[in-house]
Amino acid sequence: MLEVFEMTSTHVMGADRPARPLLRKRILVCGKGGSGKSTLVALLAMALEQRGDSVVVLDGDASNPEGLVRLLFGLGVREEPKPLIEFFGGTRRVTCPVDDPAPLTRVGDRVPVPERPIALARELGAEYMLTRGVLRLLQAGKIETYGQGCDGPIEKVVRDLLIEDAVVTLIDEKAGVEHFGRRIPERMDLILGVLDCTRESVSIARRLAEFARAMPPGTLWLILNKTESEAMTARMLELLGDLGARVIGAVPLIDGLTQTALSGDRLDAHLAQGDVEPILDRLETIAAEAG
Ligand SMILES: Nc1ncnc2c1ncn2[C@@H]1O[C@H](COP(=O)(O)OP(=O)(O)O)[C@@H](O)[C@H]1O
Ligand SMILES: [Mg+2]
Repeated sequence: MLEVFEMTSTHVMGADRPARPLLRKRILVCGKGGSGKSTLVALLAMALEQRGDSVVVLDGDASNPEGLVRLLFGLGVREEPKPLIEFFGGTRRVTCPVDDPAPLTRVGDRVPVPERPIALARELGAEYMLTRGVLRLLQAGKIETYGQGCDGPIEKVVRDLLIEDAVVTLIDEKAGVEHFGRRIPERMDLILGVLDCTRESVSIARRLAEFARAMPPGTLWLILNKTESEAMTARMLELLGDLGARVIGAVPLIDGLTQTALSGDRLDAHLAQGDVEPILDRLETIAAEAG
């Protein structure tokens, strides 16, 4: 394998691990449409679940009904989680962060959520989440009705939904870079750009790197996805140039993943376990070094 992937630390399982450096971190996953953001979020969440780390997946993609519900739980679930934007009073109360940068607040409260984070079990009813052991899925909100308006208010929920509990928060964003224009990454600890093996993803990576200049060093990292051969991985790294140093792993093209998209079954985490574990190890190392 190529040099960039050799820096992976040794994977240590579950209770033996002294520290869990990703706890309380907010990790935003972004990239072009179809690059594999939701799939990577689900795979990382399941890998964390396997390690026994409490993980909250926040679905921040307002346009993709049931995507993560299917990936994490399968389509047999009784109901989708109630959109969090309703907890905050709906789109009539929550504003777009461009029109109004004021932080998200609870209904009838003045203290912004980022100053007093949400206590999951105490504040949010069970209807706002799908739960399986240490794993929870929350949804920021969805565009459900014709003429509903822009998804800016939903993005404010993504930006400001800080959680009091000791959890890893994985946030699945919509495609493209509009959320950067809205300064959504402001409250993120890590940003993961998912790149499929296309020139478009290389261009998006460059754009992400420009945005990352406004963030603390070590915030932006890249994951290659759907690599079909070592030659393809090498070509992507060549095209990425200096940005190759930010690549923390690669997930190959896996046949079974597409099949479950049609069956409605939840993702079989074992299909990519060998590729995702080292990425999680690497993220833990990065988080530990950042403190
Ligand atoms: N590593 C992979 N191997 C094979 N198929 C993949 C892989 N990653 C994603 N896919 C497939 O690509 C499609 C888009 O993935 P998805 O995670 O929905 O992308 P995004 O959330 O970025 O739009 C889905 O059909 C998914 O099953
Ligand atoms: Mg998606």
